[in-house]
This record gives sequence, C-alpha cells and structure tokens, in this order.
Amino acid sequence: MDRRITIIGAGNVGATVAHEIARHDLAKEVVIVDVKEGTAEGKALDMWQTSSILNFDSRVVGVTNDYLRTRNSSVIVITAGIPRKPGMSRDDLIKTNAVIVKEVTEKAVKYSPDAIIIVVSNPLDVMTYAAYLAANKAPNKVFGMAGVLDTGRYKAFLAEALNVSPKDIHALLLGSHGDTMVPLKRYTSVSGIPVTDLLGDDVLDKIIERTRKGGGELVNLMGTSAWYAPGAAVASMVDAIVHDQHRVFPVCAYVDGEYGLNDIYLGVPCIIGKNGVERIITLNLDEAEKKLLIDSAKSVKETMVVLDEMKLF
Ligand code: NAI
Ligand code: 2OP
Repeated sequence: MDRRITIIGAGNVGATVAHEIARHDLAKEVVIVDVKEGTAEGKALDMWQTSSILNFDSRVVGVTNDYLRTRNSSVIVITAGIPRKPGMSRDDLIKTNAVIVKEVTEKAVKYSPDAIIIVVSNPLDVMTYAAYLAANKAPNKVFGMAGVLDTGRYKAFLAEALNVSPKDIHALLLGSHGDTMVPLKRYTSVSGIPVTDLLGDDVLDKIIERTRKGGGELVNLMGTSAWYAPGAAVASMVDAIVHDQHRVFPVCAYVDGEYGLNDIYLGVPCIIGKNGVERIITLNLDEAEKKLLIDSAKSVKETMVVLDEMKLF
C-alpha cells in the first residue's frame, strides 16, 4: 500500500485531518503543505512522534510549498485559506480564499493529475467550484466537505435532547454550508424510528436552527472556527474513498440536472467510493423541502457572483 495523501494547509483543520488520516493508517504517507516556513514541518514531526504511542505506521511529512513532494497523491484535501473571523464579510473571505484555492489546486494537480480533491476552505460551496475550475477534472473527482460535519452537529444535538447514543441517529441535510442549509426532519431517524415520533416540532425546530448556526456558535466561543469535527468529517470521507466503501454522505457535489438545479456545487446525498462521487442520490422531496433547497441554491448563486467578478478563470 504505497498510497500518498496530501493535505494543503497545516492550520487547525489541515493538521487535524492529517492526524486523523495517519492514526487510522489510511495512507502510507501523509504530506502536509503550508506556505508558512516550518509550520507543516513542525506539525508533521509532532504527529509522527505520536505514531508509537497511538500505534500507527503512516509516515507524516511536512513541507513548505514543495509540491513535488506531493506527487502521485491519490487524495488531496484543500484546507488552505483564512477562516472567517468575527466581523469579517463573506466577500472578503471569498476574495482572499479564491486566490489561494486556485493557486494551490493548480500546483497540486500538476503533480497528482489523478487525485481526488476534497475542498474544505470556506465559503465551501463556492470554493469547491473554484477548485473544480482550477483542477480541470471531471466533477465527480472534485467535491467539498460540509454535510458530514453539519449532520454530525445535528446528530450530536439530537442525541443530547433524546439521551440516546449519537451512533443510533441517522440524518440527512441538503443545500449550502451556511444559514440556508436544509436539515430534513423526514429523513431523520433513531434506529429507524422517525424522529418526529420522539420529539415535538418545537424542540426539533430549535435543533435545526442551532445546526444551521453551528459553525457561528463555535466561532463566537473560540474566535476562530472549529477543527475537531471538521477534521474527523474529512477523514471519514477519505476512508470511504480509499476503501471504496460506497458510504452515503451529504457532500458538496456538482449538481447539473438533479433536483432541477444546474451548474452549481451544493450539498446533496452522494455515494462515495474509489472514484469519488460514484452517484448523486435524488430524493423525492415534498414542496416545502424543494423550496428550501431552491432558496439555498439561490444563496450560493449569489455568492458565486463575487467569484465570477474576480475573473480568475
Ligand atoms: P487556519 O488559519 O488555522 O489554517 C489555514 C492554513 O492555511 C494556515 O496554516 C495558512 O498558513 C495556510 N495557507 C494560507 N495560504 C496558503 C497557501 N497559499 N498555500 C498553503 N497553505 C496556505 O484555518 P483553519 O481553521 O484550518 O480553516 C481552514 C479553512 O477551512 C478556512 O477557510 C475555514 O473557514 C474552513 N473550514 C471549513 C469547514 C467546512 O465545513 N467546510 C469547517 C471548518 C473550517
Ligand atoms: C464551520 O462550520 C465555519 O465552516 C466552519 O465550523
């Protein structure tokens, strides 16, 4: 197993992803790249020194801007960019991160033309589109992580409210990684029991609202965004790819025809395997759910305008 996996950005999320991948031995080698001299090298060395303690073999290596060292990666995870800080506008975030995402994607794809790319940088739906344009690859090979994190939050809140194991909660979300995301009550169950049999609408609606604002709740607490759950979420997607598990995850995927939407990256249920997005699953949504999804798509299209105006592609 000579698999190499590259993580671009050695910040909070990138470092957590790298460590999760290494400690579960998902690759022979995990390469972390950062632009800041010494950061990736230092974090990689620290992680590698946990190998005998945590019992893993994946070699973790850090480099500064050395993309040759990432060559022939099977999966590339893009976490480079800035997280949103309190007071920062969405437009500022796009303008900074789009330039970074374009640059790092082009550099990485040059050395790993067959890699599957998972985007994490925010604003997620638009940055995934930017990476798709920069990578010049089939859309099933370029997708974004958000839904696994957002459902993770939703499930954690539900488990707390019901006092049951989070492992027994199954749930689905659609739409953008933002306030317009669409958690679906109808597709939420506790070991097969519809959640609506167990919780009233008042409690469920509060949980859905908290999930929608789950990223912001953590930014307000910590002054920067989350990393443990995002890191674990990306690692579970990498696991599904490298072991061809055909897991069903909500993924920010290229939607072109499904759900009546066209030419947009948006959260939809997908089967994830060795080819990346093996298939998008189309749900039979009711009118209210369809409207929420369309509104969410509209908000992403509005954000896409800022990317278009930058004329990077
Ligand atoms: P961070 O600031 O801790 O790390 C970002 C890293 O990117 C820094 O080490 C920085 O030096 C590096 N970087 C910047 N430009 C680079 C370049 N050109 N090449 C290589 N590395 C470069 O930020 P954090 O918390 O790790 O977040 C990273 C991104 O992920 C943010 O945009 C954040 O909003 C996003 N995020 C997305 C989530 C999702 O669900 N999709 C969840 C959590 C964070
Ligand atoms: C999160 O949801 C801000 O995207 C980041 O934690």
